[in-house]
Amino acid sequence: MTIQKTHEQLIKEAHELSLREGEIGKNNPHRLAFHLDPPSNWMNDPNGLVYFNEEYHVFYQFTPDQPETGLKFWGHFRSKDLINWELLPPAIAPGEEYDLDGCWSGSAVANNDELTLIYTGHVDNKSPKEVQCIATSTDGVHFTKHQANPVVAGPPPGFSEDFRDPKVWKHDNSWYMVVGNGLNGNGQVLLYQSSNLVNWTYLGVMAEGDGTQGFMWECPDLINLGEKDVLILSPEGMDNIKHKSIYKVGNMNYETNKFEDEQLAMIDYGSDFYAPQTLKDGKGRTIMFGWMNLWESSMPTRKDRFVGSLTIPRELRLNDENKLIQIPVEELKQLRKNNKHYDLKVNEEMILDEEVEVGEIEATFTISCESKRFGLKVRCSEDEETIVGIDVERNVLFIDRKKSGEGDTSMMEAPITINNIQVSLRLFVDRSSLEVFANGGETVVTTRIYPKQTSQNVKLFSENEIDLDLNIYELEDKMTNKKVIL
Ligand code: FRU
Repeated sequence: MTIQKTHEQLIKEAHELSLREGEIGKNNPHRLAFHLDPPSNWMNDPNGLVYFNEEYHVFYQFTPDQPETGLKFWGHFRSKDLINWELLPPAIAPGEEYDLDGCWSGSAVANNDELTLIYTGHVDNKSPKEVQCIATSTDGVHFTKHQANPVVAGPPPGFSEDFRDPKVWKHDNSWYMVVGNGLNGNGQVLLYQSSNLVNWTYLGVMAEGDGTQGFMWECPDLINLGEKDVLILSPEGMDNIKHKSIYKVGNMNYETNKFEDEQLAMIDYGSDFYAPQTLKDGKGRTIMFGWMNLWESSMPTRKDRFVGSLTIPRELRLNDENKLIQIPVEELKQLRKNNKHYDLKVNEEMILDEEVEVGEIEATFTISCESKRFGLKVRCSEDEETIVGIDVERNVLFIDRKKSGEGDTSMMEAPITINNIQVSLRLFVDRSSLEVFANGGETVVTTRIYPKQTSQNVKLFSENEIDLDLNIYELEDKMTNKKVIL
């Protein structure tokens, strides 16, 4: 007779194992200094982002026993300030008949004194293979799966079995939930309503693709940003790309239960950004984290048993043209240790006296009619560099990883507005990652790079002389010795 382990035992074993295996990659120079990543082994999507009892909780898809996708738990971090994080034991472990092959992505809500997680129970070779489940906690650390699980026992009749990634929010005293789906090659989002998070009523298809927007919409999230609503989606197979993340700006019509969309764009043009999710905090800010990897990315740290991380937290706003703006949260400025300021005329290529391994770079270029191609190179040495440049003629921000070190070498391009006055770039460089926010967060590119530890030079280049105002900050490592709760 096999004796079934309790939920508590599964969590304890996973936590201990992943902490133990964390020792293997502890001194690896690609371990991140100010980004959330798993103690060891595998992380994918951010889950259950929530502000509960004045603390930020970040959960994530976690395979605690191998550095590749596998049986998914929900890993868990907590913070009062988005800067100092605690690693908590995993919140939920698979093991019930409805989530035997994984507690897949989902969300969290603060429901009075209770924190409720809403997730997809996944079971291979079963029909339906994906159902929606809940787990609750009063201390925000220990969670109990609900007796009524699964609270949504499968997709509505006629819909495909890819039925996952519930995101729940409150509107007019009612809980609403979107679930990702795809039917006949077309991504869609299904809408549900509940008064108690346990009994759910299906309200219909809230949004669907036009045939060109992918066959399955993963990780939907609906947010309100003032006058407009924004639907965040991670479509599979859009534009012949396996995975990418987009947003649609429009209006959520609670009479018809339809999202009326007006415009669509990419969220992040980088090679390593997927499955973003948001929370609303006590200050009323909408803050997004994304998975800072992608299913298709090469993950050279696998051999040291750690893979995957989340982006820095980014505040979301809409600008006057209803374009999504991503601003690194203000709190990140607390990480700044030293500031070096430069006022320069850049011509051809020059090397700075400052090195950056864990840092932030703010660069404001003043455009003239002569400006053509200019930018910065980071993580440089004699044989390595990662180029972040602007091509004025093509209105493009580009990142070139051909000489970035180990890992992928692909190039990225993103549209950028050049208004003939200034172009600003804000770079967050963290050991094996680079996030670029151009023009105040109008265009964002996130990528992983795996240079040698000794490649730390910063270079500047321009085809024609250009004025540059530059600030370089060293940033503090808050992750290596973060607090661990057993
Ligand atoms: C997105 C995703 C989700 C799913 C989870 C499984 O990256 O495929 O749709 O719930 O990952 O880990």
